[in-house]
Amino acid sequence: MTPLPVFVLLSLVCLCKSDDRLTPEKSLNAGDKLVSSGGIFALGFFTPANSTADTYIGIWYNKIPERTYVWVANRDKPIKNGSPGKLAMSSNSDLVLSDSQGRTLWTTTNNFTSATTGTAAILFDSGNLVIRLPNGTDIWQSFHYPTDTALPDMVLPLSTNDGILMRLIAWRAPDDPASSDYSMGGDSSSDLQVVIWNGTRPYWRRSAWDGSLVSALYQSNTGFIVTETIVDRGGELYMTFTVSEGSPSMRMTLDYKGTSKFLVWNSNSSSWEAFIEQPSPICERYAYCGPFGYCDAAETVPKCNCLSGFEPDGVNFSRGCRRKEDLKCGIDNNFSTLRGMKTPDKFLYVRNRSFDQCTEECRRNCSCSAYAYANLRNGSAYANLKNGSGAADQSRCLIWLGGLVDTGEFRDGGGENLYLRLASSTVDKESKVLKIILPIVASLLILASICLVWICKSRVIPVGVR
Ligand SMILES: *[C@@H]1O[C@H](CO)[C@@H](O)[C@H](O)[C@H]1NC(C)=O
Ligand SMILES: *[C@@H]1O[C@H](CO)[C@@H](O)[C@H](O)[C@H]1NC(C)=O
Ligand SMILES: *[C@@H]1O[C@H](CO)[C@@H](O)[C@H](O)[C@H]1NC(C)=O
Ligand SMILES: *[C@@H]1O[C@H](CO)[C@@H](O)[C@H](O)[C@H]1NC(C)=O
Ligand SMILES: *[C@@H]1O[C@H](CO)[C@@H](O)[C@H](O)[C@H]1NC(C)=O
Ligand SMILES: *[C@@H]1O[C@H](CO)[C@@H](O)[C@H](O)[C@H]1NC(C)=O
Ligand SMILES: *[C@@H]1O[C@H](CO)[C@@H](O)[C@H](O)[C@H]1NC(C)=O
Ligand SMILES: *[C@@H]1O[C@H](CO)[C@@H](O)[C@H](O)[C@H]1NC(C)=O
Ligand SMILES: *[C@@H]1O[C@H](CO)[C@@H](O)[C@H](O)[C@H]1NC(C)=O
Ligand SMILES: *[C@@H]1O[C@H](CO)[C@@H](O)[C@H](O)[C@H]1NC(C)=O
Ligand SMILES: *[C@@H]1O[C@H](CO)[C@@H](O)[C@H](O)[C@H]1NC(C)=O
Repeated sequence: MTPLPVFVLLSLVCLCKSDDRLTPEKSLNAGDKLVSSGGIFALGFFTPANSTADTYIGIWYNKIPERTYVWVANRDKPIKNGSPGKLAMSSNSDLVLSDSQGRTLWTTTNNFTSATTGTAAILFDSGNLVIRLPNGTDIWQSFHYPTDTALPDMVLPLSTNDGILMRLIAWRAPDDPASSDYSMGGDSSSDLQVVIWNGTRPYWRRSAWDGSLVSALYQSNTGFIVTETIVDRGGELYMTFTVSEGSPSMRMTLDYKGTSKFLVWNSNSSSWEAFIEQPSPICERYAYCGPFGYCDAAETVPKCNCLSGFEPDGVNFSRGCRRKEDLKCGIDNNFSTLRGMKTPDKFLYVRNRSFDQCTEECRRNCSCSAYAYANLRNGSAYANLKNGSGAADQSRCLIWLGGLVDTGEFRDGGGENLYLRLASSTVDKESKVLKIILPIVASLLILASICLVWICKSRVIPVGVR
């Protein structure tokens, strides 16, 4: 037998059954799909429900009856009018999606010119599509080009990488994968916080990173644990989440309304259940409560409130809050400790300070209204990244000049201390926040070294989602 018939026979065999990879010899045509080896994810062509005849290449859960896409290749360049498309591996080791006229709609840009016989694009059970060279080197992966969804073990950089800021970008509508104005990712101005944007305006913001490497989220009725982590890969900060062994399918997504959700598949009800949503409640939206106001999530019905020492500036919170007592620069000031706070935005990150030096940094500057301090030692990778010469800087001294916007108070004992500058006489009068928060903090301290998870009767404890 000549080699040719063998080859033809083999490729026929491959085409007949579902497979987990594309090779230069085997492309994907309308109606075909790749299925990861464990049958978890599938990749193929799809047309969204209610859509016109626009067709996309996407990855979805193969075993979940409610079709759920976790990645779309050509979200802004659909194949039009139901014309059959083709996804193929080029001789340059690139994946190329073309329509029936042979126009390229989407491609990876590896442009790998050396001989690469045996290169394949493999769909893994993690949901990652990887282009792998014969020697095992991965030259491209879909996890580096997310759509609107983060899957377990996918890493999202918090800082810019080669000037490219990686963000989750929401679908435009439930049945329209095109890029919308809502995006989510690291805040390039500080590397320390995660933000959801509506266009260029922040819509929701997470508290500045305080050095905790791990936040655990837990759902007691099913018993799985989700761990959200900040990790270091070669000196850059990344955010990722992992789930415990045997957990049901989980994903983190930014929906078309700009809401970030952690979702878990409930096979009993055959539906996705959100166990964390942000922003939620409404006052968690960016700067919703105005300067010196904060979203008080500790209330049964979360609502805007004024920081200790402040009162509403007008009939509602559109203008925020004003000082009850004016500061006189330099004299008779003191700091009130607010516990369990989401730190405000627009901070100045002062490097290499001890706690006392940080206090002093704020005290001696008349326009400083607050400060917060953390030790990033557990994220020492981060400190190494920022080192000048000598010992690595592990301090995180934040000071605020002027108004405090987008402040919050947490339920469940999350958050950190915010030291707010007030006239001394005001400090004496204000202890409301302390009274509410101290019992919670005390009980948490006892259990903090284990996971906070065991004490909670509520369905979920969001710890560290701040
Ligand atoms: C790929 O490389 C070739 C030869 O180096 C070059 O001519 C071509 O423009 C490159 N294509 C892309 C998309 O970078
Ligand atoms: C694999 O092959 C590519 C191209 O031939 C080369 O650049 C890469 O260094 C190789 N990797 C390993 C681990 O040998
Ligand atoms: C499709 O349209 C129907 C009827 O208008 C609606 O009930 C359904 O929610 C739509 N589906 C999506 C994904 O938008
Ligand atoms: C997002 O921005 C647009 C345009 O500025 C605005 O119309 C819309 O209301 C904003 N969405 C939310 C949820 O605030
Ligand atoms: C830092 O790590 C130590 C030991 O690993 C742990 O006990 C401590 O709680 C961590 N601190 C923070 C802020 O995560
Ligand atoms: C599904 O139902 C079974 C049996 O009633 C129960 O043990 C399990 O906890 C339920 N799972 C979820 C996710 O609700
Ligand atoms: C808040 O008060 C201002 C001025 O009184 C008014 O113009 C605005 O509509 C009010 N906003 C809300 C949400 O009530
Ligand atoms: C400021 O607070 C510190 C610590 O609570 C206290 O020792 C000091 O006397 C206060 N200063 C004034 C001027 O009240
Ligand atoms: C306060 O700090 C800011 C930022 O470092 C600086 O621009 C300003 O001059 C300082 N003001 C005083 C009075 O030191
Ligand atoms: C930080 O220090 C380490 C070890 O001395 C060095 O390898 C690294 O290049 C430094 N990073 C920066 C950004 O200077
Ligand atoms: C931090 O400041 C100390 C002096 O306060 C200095 O010795 C050290 O080199 C500084 N470290 C960095 C990383 O700048």
